[in-house]
Amino acid sequence: MVLKITVVGGCGHVGLPLAMAFADRDCDVVSYDINPAAVDTVNSGRMPFMEPDSAPVLARILKKGSFRASTDPRVIAESEIVIVVVGTPVDEHLNPDAEAVPSAVASLKDHLRPDQLLVLRSTVYPGVTRLVERRLAELGVVLDIAFCPERIAEGKAFTELFSLPQIVSGCSEQAVKRASELFGKLTSQIVVTSPEEAELAKLFTNTWRYIKFAAANQFYMIANDYGIDFDRVRHAITFDYPRAVDMPGPGFAAGPCLFKDTMQLAAFNNNNFTLGHASMMVNEGLPLYLVSKMEQKWDLSVLRIGILGMAFKSESDDIRSSLSYKLKRILRFKALEVLCSDEYVSDDPSLLTFDEVMNKSDILVIGAPHNRYRTVSTDKPVVDVWNLLGNGSVV
Ligand SMILES: NC(=O)c1ccc[n+]([C@@H]2O[C@H](COP(=O)([O-])OP(=O)(O)OC[C@H]3O[C@@H](n4cnc5c(N)ncnc54)[C@H](O)[C@@H]3O)[C@@H](O)[C@H]2O)c1
Repeated sequence: MVLKITVVGGCGHVGLPLAMAFADRDCDVVSYDINPAAVDTVNSGRMPFMEPDSAPVLARILKKGSFRASTDPRVIAESEIVIVVVGTPVDEHLNPDAEAVPSAVASLKDHLRPDQLLVLRSTVYPGVTRLVERRLAELGVVLDIAFCPERIAEGKAFTELFSLPQIVSGCSEQAVKRASELFGKLTSQIVVTSPEEAELAKLFTNTWRYIKFAAANQFYMIANDYGIDFDRVRHAITFDYPRAVDMPGPGFAAGPCLFKDTMQLAAFNNNNFTLGHASMMVNEGLPLYLVSKMEQKWDLSVLRIGILGMAFKSESDDIRSSLSYKLKRILRFKALEVLCSDEYVSDDPSLLTFDEVMNKSDILVIGAPHNRYRTVSTDKPVVDVWNLLGNGSVV
């Protein structure tokens, strides 16, 4: 029997690859999304963002008729399974919005049925799964509710959806059973927990990664202040030494997940999270640190600075919470002019071409370590925290 699935938030960075993966595994899937432009783009066979290996899958499932996108919430009533993966940002004061998912789900109440399985997949503030259960019950809607967090990294969806174990939790045994069967279509390993354990597992996963990046960035600053190239130190540490093999390199630790999830966890713990807050200070402080080092070397007020790479990470077109934009803002106060370029970003009209930035800038800064920049050949100074060019990372 073909399983009918609706993915709410199904044209987003996480929802779309998931919807496509199910549609490619003999499910009948609709991506329901409130963004009409993204829905049109998807239905016309194009991805709204970069995701490697997605194009042939999208073409295949659209041709097969197992997938479509829609802005009509009535598609939800036709599904057996409703997966919710809307965004869960923190606000400008770093407060999580614990209502983001409950409100989105409550707005769907007229389309929910008692025989459906509702799967929450957004990264949520701890307690939200039970809150959704309570809210729906108050509205007279009782159905199976599961929380199954997404752990893929952007750009790796079409390998990691099938290779990562899936954490499955639910408000009832039946919800766990149904969610396990569902994700069994994608992956062979299921890890069952309670909803509260799964909620913390997801936040701890992202926070752990954020803390590791902060440690590497602080090591970088210490070595750099001492005139030592951290890239050489890190090589010495990690070379054939298994206990340090997971030490990341330095660089901008940004994007839509790690920072906000660390702040969600801090808020959950009554803002008592020294390690998380310290990591935020270090990671968010790296652009300021680099500019202060640049100021010590050069009179920025008479120089044009070029930033190569505005996405939040390499080989991505996603600029959400990118620290390259923070770097740009700081440099605009200090420098004669700031010129920016990116190989992949298409939704920022202020960006110049690579050649324009290379030709017009006096100093270059690598903002995102896109592979293209490894072969940059120039006599101009390049601030290169990642040591992408192989000339050292000292500033
Ligand atoms: N981006 C990642 O790499 C990643 C990885 C793991 C988990 N997550 C989590 O997944 C969730 C989604 O993140 P994302 O990066 O895909 O966000 P996104 O902004 O790319 O996608 C969210 C989508 O939901 C749509 N939407 C918002 N409200 C809606 C509503 N009420 N009804 C229908 N559609 C609605 C938006 O139009 C958008 O297309 C977040 O909780 C995030 O923390 C993200």
